Amino acid sequence: MLHKKVEDICNRQVEREGYSSNLYLAMASWAENNGLAGIASWLYVQADEERLHMLKFIKYINERGGKAIVPAFKKPVTEFKNVEDVFNQVLKHEEFVTASINEIVQVTLEIKDYTTHSFLQWFVNEQIQEESSAHIILDKLRL
Ligand code: FEO
Repeated sequence: MLHKKVEDICNRQVEREGYSSNLYLAMASWAENNGLAGIASWLYVQADEERLHMLKFIKYINERGGKAIVPAFKKPVTEFKNVEDVFNQVLKHEEFVTASINEIVQVTLEIKDYTTHSFLQWFVNEQIQEESSAHIILDKLRL
């Protein structure tokens, strides 16, 4: 059975992953409307991946006897200055998500919930990849 503190912080992450999906969807749509088909398709794929991250948390919470909550999401920004602005925001957002995952890891250590700690390792590794992809794209754009 999930400790309430772990359940709550995992539900907070459900919202953050779902918001990430909507944010990338908004960016994809902006890119598509601005003739940037390649960038748009990369962002649409990211949006789908974030939805899967949200689902992983929902299913995990429920499997462990908690209650996953599907929240309301705030409206993401819809206008961007240029592609660099988009990817600066992607990177900033991924850094925020990494910090958020690390906070959950910290809670699992305090509570000695090693099962959730193990579940989170996939996300810890995923965040390394996501930050790295955003850095690589930003470097290319700045060239
Ligand atoms: Fe699921 Fe990109 O954080």
